[in-house]
Amino acid sequence: MSAQDIWIFGYGSLIWRPDFDYLERQTASVAGWTRRFWQGSHDHRGTPDEPGRVVTLIEDSTQTCTGVAYRLSADAAHKIFDALDHREKNGYERLELCATTPTQRQLNTITYVATPDNFAYLGPAPLAALSAQIANSIGPSGPNTEYLFELADALRTLEVDDAHVFELEQQVRTLLS
Ligand code: BEZ
Repeated sequence: MSAQDIWIFGYGSLIWRPDFDYLERQTASVAGWTRRFWQGSHDHRGTPDEPGRVVTLIEDSTQTCTGVAYRLSADAAHKIFDALDHREKNGYERLELCATTPTQRQLNTITYVATPDNFAYLGPAPLAALSAQIANSIGPSGPNTEYLFELADALRTLEVDDAHVFELEQQVRTLLS
């Protein structure tokens, strides 16, 4: 490992579907941020007329978001970021964030964040409204429910407790039952 190592931090679909080769995978956390289903999805889990909801990171000094960091080979990184820029073109931008592993390694990472000023941002809503939107949305990448359930399963595997995600999962499962 060196100071020039290239890491990408994933807190959403990158946890369960990275779609790229990597050299190393580490559970990692970013302090001062929290995961929220506050970003609209026009191109993956919904449509422009009926957007779905996907996660973004929201700044909150009282919170820490745990996800996964991947170390990329320098040769492959450029292509991987180009592909992710395309896949996440619906309002996300790259941000440099410091992530910490459970053994206190500090990783300089690139993270994709959809900030509140982007055109697809939806922001907070009551749990019932979020759940209904996710339960009913579908887009070119599939049902919005699949995104939520895959994320919830991946967080359980990592033993990450995320009340926002798990409460949404429970509500959506109730709506579907
Ligand atoms: C992620 O899993 O980190 C991610 C979330 C939204 C857009 C791009 C990546």
